Amino acid sequence: MNVNKRQIWFMRQAGRYLPEYREIRKKKPDFLDLCFSPNLAAEISLQPIKRFDFDFIILFSDILVIPYSMNQKVSFLKNHGPFLDTIKTKEDLCYRNYTKCLDRIKNIFETIQILQKKKGNKKLIGFCGGPFTVLNYMIEGGTSLTHSKIKNFVKNKKQESRELIKIITELSVEYLKEQIKSGVDYVQIFESWASLLDREDYDNFVIEPNKYISQEIKKFSVQTQIIHFPRGSGEKYLDFIEEVKCDVISIDQSCPEEIIVKAIEKDLTVQGDLSPLSLLEGGEVLNNKTLETLEKYKNNKHIFNLSHGILPKTPIENVKKTVNLVRNYEPTE
Ligand code: CP3
Repeated sequence: MNVNKRQIWFMRQAGRYLPEYREIRKKKPDFLDLCFSPNLAAEISLQPIKRFDFDFIILFSDILVIPYSMNQKVSFLKNHGPFLDTIKTKEDLCYRNYTKCLDRIKNIFETIQILQKKKGNKKLIGFCGGPFTVLNYMIEGGTSLTHSKIKNFVKNKKQESRELIKIITELSVEYLKEQIKSGVDYVQIFESWASLLDREDYDNFVIEPNKYISQEIKKFSVQTQIIHFPRGSGEKYLDFIEEVKCDVISIDQSCPEEIIVKAIEKDLTVQGDLSPLSLLEGGEVLNNKTLETLEKYKNNKHIFNLSHGILPKTPIENVKKTVNLVRNYEPTE
């Protein structure tokens, strides 16, 4: 049974693989400054829609605006990703007044208002980082190969971890509420580093905070659709959807196949899970993997997407071809 017309968008659909993005980026060497420039940020959010006619517009911003809003120093050095002045406890942050924090990043809400007026029949997605993922960057001070600091932190500084996660979680709820007031239809919570935690820490630092965010957002606005993306959760994806009420579960290749039936039972939409490497590679591999994905989720409510963001060297042609394949796909009986 063909449940619905397949919808499609890609994580990081706005970004360095697009020449029109690189053009704007050249004029703004400071990445956060670009995130806080409403007209430019709105223009960038719409660039992939103009090119590929995706079904969803995702706000152009970054998950690290949350540490920035609490006065942690955040900068992006060219081709080196984010750098943060690391913190040790909540006292290193200005966190006591969430309204004040959000005021520091209020330009983002202006971007959303611009997009809301221009979105036409597209759905607008706002987002935040999952609390543990945001904490990971706050403690590591940037991208890390080993994640040794955050792993040590959650093991040896339980009290501090709990306090910081609580603050990030509550602030993220207020942040998403403001995004909803400004006009987003969906919110996605990017828990990109869920894979780092063992069972017990996963429950406390991934499931519980994500559950709280969902509950609070649904209380605030029932019609807002919630997408959770606890990337790399593996078998724990199944526990995640048992515990965390959401509308869409975004998956990657670590997710067990049982998600297909479980999602139908729970009336949950599955989002994913073409590998960004296949999109980069193109040719027969991309063709086959795209069709495989379409077949795999043909009985699900399904949003076609990647299992992580588009890689900067991805050829535009490959994106175009994939969108066409998805749009023209007729499922086999
Ligand atoms: O998806 C979209 O098109 C919307 C915009 C968006 C960005 N970052 C823009 C961005 C979104 C949703 C994010 C989320 C984000 N940011 C995550 C979660 C998703 C994931 O990738 O796991 C994380 C972990 C971050 C933090 C971050 N921002 C890192 C680690 C980096 C450096 C790596 C990289 O790709 O450069 C960024 C920078 C960043 N965020 C860029 C963009 C377009 C590149 C900035 C540039 O132009 O140099």
